[in-house]
Amino acid sequence: MASLKKIHSLGNPAMILSIESSCDDSSLALTSLETCELLFARKISQDLAHTRFGGVVPEIASRLHAQNLPLLLEQLKNFLIDFSAQRTPNNKENPFAPIKAIAVTNRPGLSVTLSEGVCMANALALSLNIPLLYLNHLKGHIYSLFIGQMQAKIGKGLGILLVSGGHTQLLLMRDFSHIALISQSLDDSFGESFDKVAKMLSLGYPGGGIVESFARKYDGTLLPLPLPLKHDKGLNFSFSGLKNAVRLEIQKYAKSTDKNLNQQEKIQSNQPKSIEDKAFIAQICASFQSAACAHLLDKTRKFFARFGEKFEYFGVVGGASANLTLRAHIESLCKEFGKTPLYAPLEFCSDNAAMMGRLGIEALKHALKNAPKSPAERTAGFSPLSDAIYPKSLPEDFIKEYFIS
Ligand code: KG4
Ligand code: ZN
Repeated sequence: MASLKKIHSLGNPAMILSIESSCDDSSLALTSLETCELLFARKISQDLAHTRFGGVVPEIASRLHAQNLPLLLEQLKNFLIDFSAQRTPNNKENPFAPIKAIAVTNRPGLSVTLSEGVCMANALALSLNIPLLYLNHLKGHIYSLFIGQMQAKIGKGLGILLVSGGHTQLLLMRDFSHIALISQSLDDSFGESFDKVAKMLSLGYPGGGIVESFARKYDGTLLPLPLPLKHDKGLNFSFSGLKNAVRLEIQKYAKSTDKNLNQQEKIQSNQPKSIEDKAFIAQICASFQSAACAHLLDKTRKFFARFGEKFEYFGVVGGASANLTLRAHIESLCKEFGKTPLYAPLEFCSDNAAMMGRLGIEALKHALKNAPKSPAERTAGFSPLSDAIYPKSLPEDFIKEYFIS
């Protein structure tokens, strides 16, 4: 197998620079190509800018990436100058010289935000004359499990529950290029349903952490919410019915308490203006979280029963994998089936460039192993400006790229 050790620079470790801008987090990272050590990781989130809209506004997100990515690049450059000064004091080389490849997310995501990261990646790759890798964000979430580790712990197989703001999927992975999509949500994703519940209660964005913290404070009776797709033997998910059941509970509560609304306003009002009762908010958050996790568990248990012999590790990834109730459920499911659970550190569950860097190393190894022999062919696959930005989220693209073994 071709070795990344060949790509080295004098004195400083060879690094991969990774860039993530698929939604509302601008993030850059530097990872050692040889040891996978994470050397630099920064991100600027945009939660405050989107919170009053209860979700990400693409145009605002794009403009903020245009401001924030250069700020991060400046910080990265200063890091490289200090890093190099400490290790090789007389080294006068370009501070970016240790960077030997660039990895950037180009799909799936918001096209107007992806393009900000892709433009920066192209400019840097052209000026430094180094390979540029276009990477899949979802696959990046999978590799968040292995940040800082030289070996990706896949064993005889890795089962994956991917729970982010855009996707809810069960996957089976055999190795870098064999990932089978087993099932996914038919409508809203798990994380998105938390965002929408938070929006209904005017709690802000992103809703996941907020809803979870309200739920954690509650230990009373739960409202009876439906378990989605209870009688369906398949493994797909659905969260829109549950979301609507929450909406109805909120409306019921608002109508029973808001004495100031006149009859006409009551008819017009589909949503309560604002719910002040913290006890009710905690109860609805706890009831929703319990039902949403029960649904995930119901389908994941079926996945274990059907595909259990194909994997020994089970990873939970994506922004919503930070949910501690979900982790506790997965923990006991894994114990029951004799599987080893894997999670990313909490700081790398939501979108970040470190996971794209870890994936980038694997992609580079893979590309070197399968490298065409002629130099012209060899550079073609890596050439900047050679690939398109994929619009929005394209599940078919994900299915096409990874195939069922
Ligand atoms: O992976 P991610 O950062 O972005 C996408 O790729 O979409 O995931 C963000 C999603 C948001 O919907 C957010 O509300 C959700 O992850 N999330 C959570 C929690 N923390 C973040 N959902 C449930 N519980 C949490 N603790
Ligand atoms: Zn994500």
